[in-house]
Amino acid sequence: MAKNLSEKFYTVMKKLEPRYPSKKALILPALHQAQEECGWLPAEVMEEIGEYIGVHPAQIREVASFYTMYNLKPVGKNHLRICTNVACCLRGSDELMGFAEKKLGIKCGETTADGLFTLSEEECLGACTTAPAMMANDDYVESLDVNSLNDYIEKIKQGVK
Ligand code: FES
Repeated sequence: MAKNLSEKFYTVMKKLEPRYPSKKALILPALHQAQEECGWLPAEVMEEIGEYIGVHPAQIREVASFYTMYNLKPVGKNHLRICTNVACCLRGSDELMGFAEKKLGIKCGETTADGLFTLSEEECLGACTTAPAMMANDDYVESLDVNSLNDYIEKIKQGVK
């Protein structure tokens, strides 16, 4: 099978292996590392992870599709995930989602034509006390309102974030 993952991927995995009870326990970090490298998780990458771990690719896909943090299709350079679960909903996440859709000119689940933004809906991010919350790539953005969301998006567009 042609390699899709870099030497760096295998170097990171080799370093992690002694810290885990079995190679199978490396599925989550392997998915994380592969996504960092590829931006998302194409089928051939999950096959390669399965080969490395020693499990059927379907098991890798099962794990990847369970967690919303793994991208099963290409995403933009900046992935904005607005939490719409109960605490965030009660504090205006629907309004925020509507604002983001209008500002970016896309619907939730879509990517802008320039590839700069993907907008997604997220389940509870564990930041209920500072709702409404959003994940922007690996960053938590909390206590959002329309103004702070607007500023955040503008900073990304200006290359400040
Ligand atoms: S409901 Fe949004 S962070 Fe918990």
